[in-house]
Amino acid sequence: MKIAPARRLKGRLTLPGDKSISHRAALIAALASGSSEIANFSTARDCASTLACLQQLGVSIERLDDGCIRFAGDQSLTAPAEPLDCGNSGSTMRILAGILAGQIFSSELIGDESLSTRPMRRIIEPLEMMGATIQSTDGKPPLKIQGSDKLAPITYELPVASAQVKSAILFAGLFARGRTTVIEKLPSRDHTERLFNGFGVPVKTNADLSITIDGPARFNGGSITIPGDVSSAAYFVAAAMLLPGSELTLENIGLNPTRAAFLSVFQAWGAEISTTDLRSERNEPVGTINVTGGLRANTGNEERTLAGSMIPSLIDELPLLAVTGTQIPGGIQIRDAEELRLKESDRLQATAQNLRSMGAEVDEFDDGIAVSGPTQLRGATIDSYGDHRIAMAFSIAALIAEGETEIKGSECAAISFPEFFELLDAVTER
Ligand code: S3P
Repeated sequence: MKIAPARRLKGRLTLPGDKSISHRAALIAALASGSSEIANFSTARDCASTLACLQQLGVSIERLDDGCIRFAGDQSLTAPAEPLDCGNSGSTMRILAGILAGQIFSSELIGDESLSTRPMRRIIEPLEMMGATIQSTDGKPPLKIQGSDKLAPITYELPVASAQVKSAILFAGLFARGRTTVIEKLPSRDHTERLFNGFGVPVKTNADLSITIDGPARFNGGSITIPGDVSSAAYFVAAAMLLPGSELTLENIGLNPTRAAFLSVFQAWGAEISTTDLRSERNEPVGTINVTGGLRANTGNEERTLAGSMIPSLIDELPLLAVTGTQIPGGIQIRDAEELRLKESDRLQATAQNLRSMGAEVDEFDDGIAVSGPTQLRGATIDSYGDHRIAMAFSIAALIAEGETEIKGSECAAISFPEFFELLDAVTER
C-alpha cells in the first residue's frame, strides 16, 4: 500500500466494535444461560477466530440480518474434533484456555507463525495450579489442554501486567468451587470485570488491586452493543491532531479509562481533544471524541516520559505514541514497556527501525524507545512485520511525512481493523 502525505482530516465516523470487548462478550454469551445478542461485534480477524473456535466447541452462533450476532445460550461445550485455530489472536488463545481448563474434555489450541512464538507459561502456570494439565513446546503454542470439572480456586499474583492472563484466570474461576483471587501489580484493562458484572456474575475489584470471583457461576444471557474500538480510533485521533485544520468526530467510542489513556497523553502534548455524549453500555463508558487539528505550544505539563503504571493502559498505542512523539518539541521516551517485544511482533524493534527509515532520531532500550522531536519525517518503505498496529501506526506517519510511503504487508491491518484504509481515505483531504 502506498500512502501520500495529507493536508488534513475532516469528517465524522463511527467505528466497528472494540476487539477486546467483542472477544469477551462472545465468550460470555457462549457460556450463558439464556440467549444473547451482540450488536456492532468487531470485524477484526482476531474476533472471527474466537467465533470459529466457539463454533468448533459446539456453540450455536447465528448472524442476523441486522448484523447482530445471536448466541442460543444454555449450551455446554463439547470436545472439538480438530485443533482450535486461534490465528494471530493472543486474546483468543489465552482467554479461551481459561475456559477450556474447566471442561472435562481435552483440546488443542494452535495459532499462526507469530502466535506460535508468543509466551504461554503465563497462563499455563495458574491454570495448572487450578487443576488443568497443559502441554506446550517450551511454553509456546500449540497448547494441549486437559481440563477438569474439579478446578480448585487459587490466589494468584500476576507476574506481568496482562489483561489476557487476568481474564484467563477469571474465566477459569467460573468453573472452580470457591473464591478465586487475582492480584495485579498494575491495573490492566478491566473489560472482563465490567462484563462479568454486567452479565450477572459478580466480580469484586478491591483497593489493593485484588480481584475476586466466587465459583461456580454462570452468566445470564442478554444483549449488548459493543462500543467502537478506541484503539482503532487512536490512529484517527493522532492524524487529526497532527494535521492543522483537521476537524474530526468519532462517535460511540469506548472510553474505558484503562484503554483511553492515550487521549490524556495527547492532550498533555497540546492536542485539542474533547469527549462528549458520555454514557455507559453494560458498565463500559462510551462517548464521542472530537479532535481539532494542531498542537498548542507548550502546555507546561507535557508527559514526555511514558513509564511505570501508565504503560498497561497505553500498551497497544505505544508504537503510535512513538510515531507521534517525533512531532513533539523535545521528543518523548517510553520505558518499562518490555512487554512490547512479546506482541504480534517485537514492537520496540519494529517501531525503532521504521522510524529510522523515515529519518527520525531514535534510541532503542531493552524496555523502551526514545525519539527526538520535532522531526520532519520522510516517506520511506516500511516493514509492517505482519503486525497490524505497526502497519496502522506508520500509515499515520505517512500522512505527515514528506513524499510517499509504502507500507509492506499493509493488509495485516485486518487483524484488528479491516476497514482502516477505506475509512482513513474517506476522511483524508490532500
Ligand atoms: C488484550 C490485552 C493486551 C493487549 C491485547 C489485547 C486483551 O495484552 O495488548 O492487544 O484483550 O486482554 P496483554 O494482556 O498480554 O498485555
